[in-house]
Amino acid sequence: MRKEEAVRLDVRPNAAALGAEVKGVDLRALDEATFQAVHRAWVDHLVLLFRGQTLSDDDLIAFSRRFGDLDWAPVQETGRRFVDGKPEIYVVSNVIEKGEPIGSLGAGEAVWHTDMSYIEDPPKASMLYALEIPPSGGNTGFVNMYAAYDALPAALKQRVEGLVLKHDGTYNSGGYVRQGITATDDPVTSPGAVHPLVCTHPESRRRVLYLGRRRNGYILGLPLAESEKLLDELWSYATRDEFTWHHQWRVGDLVMWDNRCTMHRRDPFDSSARRVMHRTQIKGEARPAA
Ligand code: OGA
Ligand code: MN
Repeated sequence: MRKEEAVRLDVRPNAAALGAEVKGVDLRALDEATFQAVHRAWVDHLVLLFRGQTLSDDDLIAFSRRFGDLDWAPVQETGRRFVDGKPEIYVVSNVIEKGEPIGSLGAGEAVWHTDMSYIEDPPKASMLYALEIPPSGGNTGFVNMYAAYDALPAALKQRVEGLVLKHDGTYNSGGYVRQGITATDDPVTSPGAVHPLVCTHPESRRRVLYLGRRRNGYILGLPLAESEKLLDELWSYATRDEFTWHHQWRVGDLVMWDNRCTMHRRDPFDSSARRVMHRTQIKGEARPAA
């Protein structure tokens, strides 16, 4: 028995296709063996929830760093990059201070997506920590993209084998145009990064459907109409209710997800309520690969 297997981590899988709650840990003080158990639980369950945490930005960064180097956060919709000198922190918030939003994504729906797949080396994981939560709405849903791949009929699996998809970098999941980008709705010419439609997860070695986001997605080499039709068909498998889990937030929740095998979305909420979340994103060791 390996030493770290002696650690008993209290992991409670959801009654859903993905996700588990880990109880009884303080993320500011994990010994190495417990950290290894958390890492394994994350690969196994795709999304982990830790409730009742008390994390400063530095604590959030320190816990995130145990999984690897951090990416800098995308530029906020206002064009601001740094949050108090901490470029690793992405603020997701509708709160307006001095006439300017303090974060991104507003209070509307955030559509299904995986984080930052419009860059060549997308982050393997994101961690989202809840500082302020509205009384209702603003739940975050996750979907298991291994299950989506497994559900494809054999002929469709064969059809997508070897195809590559451009992941659009024009819009964020809230529908806002990213900083420095000219708005376009032409999937063929929009900026983005190209990744295999079906990837092999570098840690689990399982096959996974890698869609990124729907808007401006384009399968290279196909006439646009054919690409649209195939993407619509794939998306109809990818976001089935039975592959999802929806999280209702409480202040102090830390949720971390695997960007290589999940997508997520957010319900809208009352724009007069406050929602403040801080996120980090952890660099992948390997590019998405078939
Ligand atoms: C994110 C994200 C949705 C939410 O932080 O990457 O998509 O629920 N957040 O805030
Ligand atoms: Mn996101």
